Amino acid sequence: MPTFKFPPPEPDESPANCRRCDLWAGATQAVCGSGPTNALIMLVGEQPGEEEDERGEPFVGPAGTLLARALHQAGLAREQVFITHAVKHFKWMARGKRRIQKTPTQAEVAACEVWLEQELVAVRPRVVVALGATAYRALTGQQRGFAEARASRVLERSGAALVVTWHPSAALRVPSVEMRRAIYDDIVAALRRAAAQAGMAPSSGEIAAPSASELPTDN
Ligand code: URA
Repeated sequence: MPTFKFPPPEPDESPANCRRCDLWAGATQAVCGSGPTNALIMLVGEQPGEEEDERGEPFVGPAGTLLARALHQAGLAREQVFITHAVKHFKWMARGKRRIQKTPTQAEVAACEVWLEQELVAVRPRVVVALGATAYRALTGQQRGFAEARASRVLERSGAALVVTWHPSAALRVPSVEMRRAIYDDIVAALRRAAAQAGMAPSSGEIAAPSASELPTDN
């Protein structure tokens, strides 16, 4: 059984009416995980972005497009995996007319822990993939060690294997094409490791890596 550091949800409490932190106030809606509840692999990102906030679905913006491509290249279909975030409400700051994602604080991540834990208990994946440092921290409680965890092949989290890699947004943000490529390749390698660890045979749909010009920026 998971050990909650925060009180478990009340019967009438859900991410939709959660007031455990203040992020709900600036968000359109809570964005919960989506995918099959018997998925063998669960991917955990940081928090919804602007498009996810509006549509109520995880990873449907530019980072989601890149993630779908990486999944496909690793021989996995998006429909086969459960995709969620460490934090269910969009935290943002204004930049011109756009709302730009702002990293959640440790307290906000901790306040959201019950909802992630609830999804982990419901899905019981064989493998959890932490996409980025916030997900890594949420899943391990460790504030340090993201780089080392990424380099480790497979760790463990509540009985599931834990694979740690970059957040797809990183492959859209870094200015250097070489770095973007390295980040993208690391994500694909992590997803392949996750599939092997979950005992999933790669589908025949593997596709070529995107060219440098196909690794867009999110600006
Ligand atoms: N970043 C995330 O962690 N998730 C999304 O859905 C979009 C951006």
